[in-house]
Amino acid sequence: MQRDIHPQLFSGSYARQAHVGLPEGTFEEEYGRDGFFGPATQIYHKHAPTGWTRIEGPLRPRCVYLDNLADTQTGQRVPFLGNQSAQIWAWRLTQSMGHLLRNADGDEMLFVHQGSGRIMTELGMHSYGEGDYLLIPRGIGYQLQVDSPTMLLVVEATGSRFKLPDRGIVGLHAVFDPAVLQVPVQQGCHATPNAAGEYEIHVKRRNAITRVFYAHDPTDIAGWKGDTTVFKMNWRDIRPITSHSYHIPPSAHTLFLSERFVVCTFAPRPYESDPKCLRVPYFHRNIDYEEVLFYHQGNFMSRAHTRLGMATLHPTGIHHGPHPAALRNQHKLVMADEVAVMIDFRDAVDMAPIPPACENLDYVNSWKE
Ligand SMILES: [Fe+2]
Repeated sequence: MQRDIHPQLFSGSYARQAHVGLPEGTFEEEYGRDGFFGPATQIYHKHAPTGWTRIEGPLRPRCVYLDNLADTQTGQRVPFLGNQSAQIWAWRLTQSMGHLLRNADGDEMLFVHQGSGRIMTELGMHSYGEGDYLLIPRGIGYQLQVDSPTMLLVVEATGSRFKLPDRGIVGLHAVFDPAVLQVPVQQGCHATPNAAGEYEIHVKRRNAITRVFYAHDPTDIAGWKGDTTVFKMNWRDIRPITSHSYHIPPSAHTLFLSERFVVCTFAPRPYESDPKCLRVPYFHRNIDYEEVLFYHQGNFMSRAHTRLGMATLHPTGIHHGPHPAALRNQHKLVMADEVAVMIDFRDAVDMAPIPPACENLDYVNSWKE
C-alpha cells in the first residue's frame, strides 16, 4: 500500500491540517470522492452549507421512524429503501416464526435493535440479543424464535456477499478481531414445525416465495466444516479507532462491506481532546454515496431532534453536518455516547412509500436555529 506525495492545492484562507484550527468564523466542508477514501477538498465557508432557506425538488434529507414503520405490519418485513445491490427492511417480531426463511436473492445482515431469542439455522443456532449483528449467507435457511419482542434492521446484499474491509496500516485486528465472530452450534438447534407438523421453508427468489415442506427438521444436522457460516458479533465487540487530535472519518468505522455499499458502526468513543480540533463531524456532501444512518442507542450529540429507532437518509448532492447547537457546544463534549449503524450506498436508492405518521416531515429544517 503505497502512494505518491501529492502537493496540496489551496487558495484564500484555509487550515493546513484538515479539521484542525479552522480559520476564524469559518465552517469547514469536506467535498470528498469515493466516500472518504478518495481525493478531497476542504472548503472554508463563511456560512454553514446546511443553511438553506428551502429545498424544492426530489432530493431532501429524510428521517423515518423505523420502529413505527415495522409496527405497521408486525411479523412482516416492511421495506424502507434500497437499490439493485441492497435492500433495507424494518422487522418487528412479537412471535416466533412458524417457518424457515431461505433468502436465495442475497446475504442478510440482521441487526438486533430490541429483543432477544434464538436463531435456528441450517448450520446451527445462536442466541441473540440487543446490539447483535447476525450475518446469514445467501440461501441458508433460518427461523427466529422470539423470547422477547424483537425489532430488527435487515440489510439484504443482493449484489455481492458481505466481506471485511482492508484494515491497511492499522492491521487485521483493529476495530474488531475476526476471532470475535461467533459461529453457530448444533446443541439446542431445533426448528419448530407448522401447525400441521411439517417443517416449512420459504425460499425467497426474485422477491417471490416458494414453499418447500419436509417431514424432518432441516436444521437437524450432524455437523459442518468450512470457511463460511452464520456469524454473530455485537457492537460491544468493536474497539473504535480514535485520535486525541484528529476527527477520524466514518470510513474508519467500517465493519462489513459489499461491492456497492458499506456498513459502518459508530460505537461509544472519547471525543478529541485537542482544543483546536473539530469534535463533531465536519459538513460534507459525500458526493459518491447515499448515506443512511440508523440510531440504535445513546445520545447523539451532533444532531437535534433524534430518537432511537429512527433512520435518516442524506441523499447524494445535498449537504449535511452538525446541527447548530452541537457545533456551538462541541468543546464541552467528552464522550460520544452513541451507537449507530450506517449503510452507505454507492448507487442511488429509492425509498418505499412511508406513511406520514412514520416520518419526521420537518427534518429538512432541522439545521435551522
Ligand atoms: Fe455523512
